[in-house]
Amino acid sequence: MSQTSPNTLHYLKDVLHWGDQDPVDLSRWSNEVRQAPVFLYNLNGIQSRFLQMRKIYGSLHSNAKIFYAMKANSHPEVLQILREQGSGVDVVSAGEIQRALDCGFAPQDMIFSGVGKSKNEIELALQLQIRQINVESLSELQRIAEISSSKKTKATVVLRMNPNIDVKTHPYIATGLNENKFGLEFSLWPEIQNILTKNPQISLRGLSLHLGSQMTDLSGLREALRLTKNFFLSLQKNLLKVNRFDVGGGLGIFYEKQDFAKEEELLGQYAQIIREELPELLSQPDFELQTEPGRWLVGHSGILLMEVEYIKETTHKNFLIVNAGMHNVLRPALYQAYHSIFPLRQHPDRSAKVYDIVGPICESSDFLAKSRSIPECFEGEILILADVGAYGFSMASNYNLQVAPYEICLK
Ligand code: LLP
Repeated sequence: MSQTSPNTLHYLKDVLHWGDQDPVDLSRWSNEVRQAPVFLYNLNGIQSRFLQMRKIYGSLHSNAKIFYAMKANSHPEVLQILREQGSGVDVVSAGEIQRALDCGFAPQDMIFSGVGKSKNEIELALQLQIRQINVESLSELQRIAEISSSKKTKATVVLRMNPNIDVKTHPYIATGLNENKFGLEFSLWPEIQNILTKNPQISLRGLSLHLGSQMTDLSGLREALRLTKNFFLSLQKNLLKVNRFDVGGGLGIFYEKQDFAKEEELLGQYAQIIREELPELLSQPDFELQTEPGRWLVGHSGILLMEVEYIKETTHKNFLIVNAGMHNVLRPALYQAYHSIFPLRQHPDRSAKVYDIVGPICESSDFLAKSRSIPECFEGEILILADVGAYGFSMASNYNLQVAPYEICLK
């Protein structure tokens, strides 16, 4: 809890508030949370992160553009605010394409990523003439070739490369190693070239990368940019008109302690690495620098309000059983991810107690925090789970047919 930001959580008169200017009193949703958990999204917070990022990328090249990875949070109002600020979108399914269209994104502002694009999805992308399809395999390129040839449409593609680089993140969200299903190996170029030569309706515009998510150590990024740039320059030498370099997403945030200054610094380092590694590209006037961030833009701008249903003290543990769980926020169960938890009301006289904070789902993996020290809590109290704006509701399920949470946007 530091720095001025619309995303700062802090106590005023012992009640948790959100944001520095016009702080929002989080007790406003005390009634709703007794019915169902409440996701709150802070649209100002998202806008301010987007503008921060745009400024940094804009300083690298006049054709720099951000394509928000909407898998992080596809709430329509989140998408609209980002579109209004000039963002494009990175989509991974027909469902996301449709949602983006409904929220006013033009096909030319859509990048289509993902390893499993179905025939129908490719047909839709070609019919809409979206900006680019990021190709992940030879078979996918072949499929794009067949569909675009039979439908007599043009196809604009970018090759997603897999440079086999470790970015030191959780193994489930590392994507740039050769053991991962993502991207193409550089050595596949002869086969790729063969397909492209036979299919002049396909226009190869550039290369993309996405090395992994929640990166806070950027040394791997530098190495990956270097390797991929060399390949990019060799394509240009071969007279291919490639001019797009998509650096992907992946920039991390600090979950354990909100530190917005450090995150800004990390963003600065990211840009500096691009500046240092891609000078031959950044100096080309028609070069297009693209990025696909998700978490960094929206992660801090979502919180979850939940009620303590039961306190269960056993000889081994103190459980706080709340009305939210892995069906709302899967990250702790899936990646042992840490999310801060705050009581809505602060009672300075209460001492800290160690709890496992768990949900109603019939699985022992249903926890939001383990062995967490927070001020002593009582049944009926409201707790706030922080930093669930990214990969929170978007990964939610209706497992156990639990009541659906509210999703409310604050302007
Ligand atoms: N581009 C591509 C091709 C991606 O696959 C992803 C995320 C992004 C961009 C955005 O990455 P970001 O900037 O948000 O790191 N569920 C996990 C994260 C999975 C990320 C999947 N791909 C989590 O909760 O940590």
